[in-house]
Amino acid sequence: MAQTTAAHGWQLEQDSATAYERFLVPLLFDTSARDLVDRLQVRPSDRVLDVACGTGVVARHAAERVEPDGEVVAVDLNPGMLAAAQEAAANRAIRWEEASADALALEDGHVDVVCCQQGLQFFGDRPAALAEMHRVTTAGGRLGLSVCRPLDHQPGYRPLVDGLRRHVGHAAAEGMASPFSFGDRDEIVALVRAAGFRDVEARIVIWPLRVSSPAAFLRGETASSPLGGVIADLDAEVIDALIADISEGLAPHTDDAGVSFPIETLVVTARR
Ligand SMILES: C[S@@+](CC[C@H](N)C(=O)[O-])C[C@H]1O[C@@H](n2cnc3c(N)ncnc32)[C@H](O)[C@@H]1O
Repeated sequence: MAQTTAAHGWQLEQDSATAYERFLVPLLFDTSARDLVDRLQVRPSDRVLDVACGTGVVARHAAERVEPDGEVVAVDLNPGMLAAAQEAAANRAIRWEEASADALALEDGHVDVVCCQQGLQFFGDRPAALAEMHRVTTAGGRLGLSVCRPLDHQPGYRPLVDGLRRHVGHAAAEGMASPFSFGDRDEIVALVRAAGFRDVEARIVIWPLRVSSPAAFLRGETASSPLGGVIADLDAEVIDALIADISEGLAPHTDDAGVSFPIETLVVTARR
């Protein structure tokens, strides 16, 4: 199963990329991607860049809107994610590129719209990545970023992270907490302004998530993350204790159909 590549955040091997596309995309990212391209008013003939595209869900929604004359370029540094993205995109006309967000192989002012869904928190050099997004955007072009708000605002993920810390260890907990590690509104707005963007606006956007059980939540989240291999190696008693602990934390969000809780994100839009 998955191995973590230490150099950059949230690195998945291809099995995890496939699990990501099957679990996390329907759980949240498909809905939030559609919302992001709607907010950015992506339209026919726009040239769109999807930075940290993962399995390509934003790129797919953008491609639907820009066809037939527009262009979508999708960039990620993880080849496993890009392979899963190409498979999921079937015949959509999207150009996939393996590159880091802070070294984009695009000309100055090449795109009308830059999207980056749940990528910024993982970048090693965020100012350089935002400078690149600014460089490749045409004058008047639009930027849309989304990140998860910090763990204190996540009633579903908090019990998952706490359970991992108690039963698996600090590194596993920090891995699961990493998507929530850079969600401070003022800090993000300041970074986007410092890169040269104007009309910067941040909105809290809250989505309802539903999973069939705490065990399914643990399994789906870890299989879609660099933790898949770690969990697969645990003894059955440890997994049982972990699930019992997470179930207790999720009890206030549990009903007859499973578990439902909100996830809070921050969506930042701006213009070049
Ligand atoms: C949580 S996923 C989000 C993927 C996708 N945007 C989505 O909405 O499903 C984070 C992605 O950021 C990518 N990533 C991390 N650091 C990166 C960097 N420096 N440059 C490009 N991609 C990066 C990872 O490989 C991963 O695919």
